Amino acid sequence: MNDSGRAGLISGTGEEGQGIALRLAAAGNPVAIGSRSAERARQQALEINQQIGDEIVRGMSNHELIAACEILILTVPWIHSQQVITEYQEELSADQILVDVTVPIVFDKGPRLVDLGEQSGSEHLQSILPSGPAVVAAFKTLPAHLLCDLDTPLDCDEFVCSDSSEAKSRVLELVGTIHRLRWIDAGPLRYSRSLEAITLLEIGLNQRYRVKNSRIQMVGLEEPEKGS
Ligand SMILES: NC(=O)c1ccc[n+]([C@@H]2O[C@H](COP(=O)([O-])OP(=O)(O)OC[C@H]3O[C@@H](n4cnc5c(N)ncnc54)[C@H](OP(=O)(O)O)[C@@H]3O)[C@@H](O)[C@H]2O)c1
Repeated sequence: MNDSGRAGLISGTGEEGQGIALRLAAAGNPVAIGSRSAERARQQALEINQQIGDEIVRGMSNHELIAACEILILTVPWIHSQQVITEYQEELSADQILVDVTVPIVFDKGPRLVDLGEQSGSEHLQSILPSGPAVVAAFKTLPAHLLCDLDTPLDCDEFVCSDSSEAKSRVLELVGTIHRLRWIDAGPLRYSRSLEAITLLEIGLNQRYRVKNSRIQMVGLEEPEKGS
């Protein structure tokens, strides 16, 4: 199977994966949803295709997806991410791009960031893939609930970090297809640490204000108008 133009979500069957798949597919991008269970992935793909009235999403096992897609989007809970990447490591190649959506947050007496020393979760993943795909951090601050609600416009920003400018450009190009979502090149992978902290802030605000969709928009990044 060669589906290299298709963005593939590794275990994209959770709420965040479903939301990203939905928004990408609604923008006309071919998408693959992967899962440890191919049947679960096919069911999820069917539901998204029905929702958008197209046949643009395919469901398959994570193994098939990794063999087929060039851009792989990792949407498993962070606590399992290392084990998942280790399991599929031999199947990944340096020609692929791994988009890391995971956020190293655990919930004990409330949400908190896992202490990874100086590293972000994304740098941690990159360090266990020294000769594998370039890791790009993206979608970390976009709430699943918002992504899944196609009727609500994405009036927030999407921050993308990587140490590979080529991989980052490819991901920015993909993100840029999503309707009304402004992307921001947030720099090298080490800045994903800040994105992970923003997600923690959003979770805390959601709890305090009893909402589900708090999100971030930067101001002051617009090009100044000529003559001003
Ligand atoms: N939810 C949000 O609003 C949000 C926002 C920003 C970032 N994120 C990040 O996005 C990621 C996914 O979030 P989510 O809420 O969609 O997660 P989730 O629903 O809890 O899990 C996503 C998928 O991960 C797979 N999975 C679950 N347990 C696993 C295990 N023990 N081993 C291997 N795979 C397992 C399952 O897929 P299969 O069983 O089908 O393989 C599951 O459908 C997380 O890292 C989260 O930090 C979430």
